[in-house]
Amino acid sequence: MLTRFISFVVLLAIGTLTLAHSDHPDLRHWEIASSDPDRIFLSFQGDPATSRAVTWRTDPSVSVAFAQIAVATRGAQFAEVARTVEASTEVVDLTPSTANVQGIVHYHAAVFEDLDPDTLYVYRVGDGDIRWSEWIQFRTATKEPEPFKFVYFGDAQNNVLSRWSRVIRAAYQKAPDAVIAIHAGDLINRAHTDQEWAGWFKAGGFLHGQWTGIPVAGNHEYGRLVQENRESERVLSLLWRPQFTLPVEPSLPEALHETVFTVNYQGVQFMVLNSNRLVEEQIAFMEARLGDPGSLWRIAIFHHPIFSPAFDRDNREFRATWKPVLDRFGVDLVLQGHDHTYARGHVPVRSGSGYEEGTLQTVYVTSVSGPKMYDIPEGKFDQFAEDGYVADHQMEDTQFFQVISIDGGRLTYEACAATGELYDKAVITKDFATGKKRIEQQIPPIPVFETVPESQ
Ligand SMILES: [Fe+2]
Repeated sequence: MLTRFISFVVLLAIGTLTLAHSDHPDLRHWEIASSDPDRIFLSFQGDPATSRAVTWRTDPSVSVAFAQIAVATRGAQFAEVARTVEASTEVVDLTPSTANVQGIVHYHAAVFEDLDPDTLYVYRVGDGDIRWSEWIQFRTATKEPEPFKFVYFGDAQNNVLSRWSRVIRAAYQKAPDAVIAIHAGDLINRAHTDQEWAGWFKAGGFLHGQWTGIPVAGNHEYGRLVQENRESERVLSLLWRPQFTLPVEPSLPEALHETVFTVNYQGVQFMVLNSNRLVEEQIAFMEARLGDPGSLWRIAIFHHPIFSPAFDRDNREFRATWKPVLDRFGVDLVLQGHDHTYARGHVPVRSGSGYEEGTLQTVYVTSVSGPKMYDIPEGKFDQFAEDGYVADHQMEDTQFFQVISIDGGRLTYEACAATGELYDKAVITKDFATGKKRIEQQIPPIPVFETVPESQ
């Protein structure tokens, strides 16, 4: 009798699952929203020492959602004292993009506030009843500058689940103690296609909720959609704002909200810019934020590189508009994507009509983490000599991730391949009293432009 009852329950469960999947026969089961939370993404909102935001997805059956948070304890008793925060729920209609199969999904966002600095927390998200995520740990930032490590990824973009997952997982193996993951644009290929976002979230899995993420809008985060006036326009992914809860800068035009912001983390200012839209409108914001005292290091992140390594590309506009601002405020490091190849270079301090040899103004990196690759033409960097660009290292046909560590006046930059090996390294040292910086090249002895077989 018991066996028959269990068989009945199992068959009922299978039947229910099959029914859910048969609504969307073209989708894989993990692409379909359910009442269980998925696509959990941790982001900055306010002071990193005392707050975080978390965003997740469900199907429309969950219209009231919650997050719980507690200080992590050695045993599981934290759960008994967890604080509950009600989430805001956004109904997202995916059908404006004809590529999408599902219709309505729900995205939920909760903000944790009044956290203690430098404290390990544990949180979960769900419906407040039985549909909860696992508990996930993160540490709040310190109030004062302290050493930390973060990872950075150039474009993932294509075949993300199949061929990018190994990169983000290799980054976690190399730097499990990293606290921030920067995604420098073109996270996927077709901005509004939910199945591609499904692949991006599955590729990173729990890391998207454990590392605090900084997504940056690339050109592929914009795509054509028919608007209310029936005109087709290139607009930001209809999933960007629902699935990433990011800082809103009220001084900026609404079109830039949640794509242009700063995060001040343990003495480092991260400045996220949107190189797709309203480039000149961002200058006043850059000047205001870069003028804020209190940051020991300043790192700018945007998608289109100032010194493009790719064939047939040159983003002259950004050298005319943004670079003078980066120069003026001595931004230390610029992290970029878009060109599907790897290039690291630097610009020395300008002196009169030339540049002072052996000095450092700004380090520029273009990188790629996904499988699509472009070539670097011979002599490509010659055209940037007048802007003082010194090409330090470049590589083709390599999926990269970067681990960047900051400890007092020392920034260590490492670029590793998907296979985990170190292919590029440089150390920037900075004297905070004078602002003077030096770069020490520590490039490992690996041939530049090594030959990769066309096919195997
Ligand atoms: Fe791009």
